[in-house]
Amino acid sequence: MICLIGFMGSGKTTVGEALAYKLGFKWVDLDFYIEEQEKMTIAKIFEEKGEAHFRRLETKYLQVFADEEQLVLSTGGGIIVTPENRVLLQQHQTFYLNWEFDTLYQRIAGDVTRPLATSYEALCTRYEMRQPFYKEASDMTIDCEGKTIEAVVDEIFLLGNCFLYEKSKKITN
Ligand code: S3P
Repeated sequence: MICLIGFMGSGKTTVGEALAYKLGFKWVDLDFYIEEQEKMTIAKIFEEKGEAHFRRLETKYLQVFADEEQLVLSTGGGIIVTPENRVLLQQHQTFYLNWEFDTLYQRIAGDVTRPLATSYEALCTRYEMRQPFYKEASDMTIDCEGKTIEAVVDEIFLLGNCFLYEKSKKITN
């Protein structure tokens, strides 16, 4: 499984869908999947059941896909706050889509579908606090600033193939 992680607005959904298409893999967006399974939007889950409940759902549904091989999984920005999720992500090919905070903020400011898209200061603190977790959970950081979606997809595609090659070498040796 190839997993994409990164802060809100980092393009995990768009890049994930395009990457899956290019690889001929299945694509799942974990937030969409949670909404489908729970028959409720993320915003409603946060409002009615709280963030802790949402985090438990994230872990539960992440595990559903743990054994899938030909899959690209786009995750929610906070997937890495749960230690158990970081362990699972480390066992797969996980790419961190990294952007400067100001670029992300411009994309997510005022988005009512994102319950955690609050003030500039609060979001910036959250972004800083999460940096070590994104790094810990991923194999590779993709610096996306100034790049197009296509360029990011190509970069992951290339790196993903290299990983598979390295892994298969280890298995055959
Ligand atoms: C969250 C990010 C959201 C969604 C939820 C919580 C977060 O996903 O999972 O609102 O904690 O950063 P996106 O990263 O797709 O916005």
